[in-house]
Amino acid sequence: WIAGAVGLAIAYLLGSTPSGYLAGKLIRGIDIREHGSKSTGATNVLRTLGKWPALAVLLIDVLKGVGAVIFARWFYPWFSTVSSGTPPTAFDPQILEPWAVCLAGLAVLLGHGRSVWLNFTGGKSVATGLGVLLAMSWPVGLGAVAVFGVALAAVRIVSLSSMLAALTAIALVCGLEQPLPYRLLVIAGGIYVIARHRTNIRRLVAGTEPRLGKVA
Ligand code: G3P
Repeated sequence: WIAGAVGLAIAYLLGSTPSGYLAGKLIRGIDIREHGSKSTGATNVLRTLGKWPALAVLLIDVLKGVGAVIFARWFYPWFSTVSSGTPPTAFDPQILEPWAVCLAGLAVLLGHGRSVWLNFTGGKSVATGLGVLLAMSWPVGLGAVAVFGVALAAVRIVSLSSMLAALTAIALVCGLEQPLPYRLLVIAGGIYVIARHRTNIRRLVAGTEPRLGKVA
């Protein structure tokens, strides 16, 4: 359980890295949480700071998700080897690895959405979730990206496209042959991402959700 707790804490701290907030402070000296949708995610960085900062934040946030999965796959076998003194073969990757990825994936999503450095505020965990998906299972990640791209081209509303991508990821991870922990990660993570879009859903229903390029 020590390995579990340490791994969770590291993945959470990785997710907590406030890239969007730092971009606002460094580029314009503002707190991005007081602008646009108040999210620290790349979409709000785009409408508040512009294209290049948004691209940088998007990339960093995706890499946080990728990093958490890679970290989990490396850390748990390493920790079990170091702590038990047994060789790496004692670690059964078939069983432990998917659970390690599940825990780290959820922790990094939570860290991004509720950053310890930002009074537990943050983004909506879409880009970080994409990173988790791509590193966990690329067919699931690419399927979600494809639906996001088609939806965005059609309606030009990032929040709606993000939620459709989250639902697609859930459908894919259940439909494709995937380990149970991956399914739990994507279902719980997808529900979390959609729950983080509560205010967007209200605006969508009211017909006031801004399209890409418009101010929130
Ligand atoms: O990446 C989050 C996106 O789906 C919505 O962001 O800033 O429009 O609430 P925002």
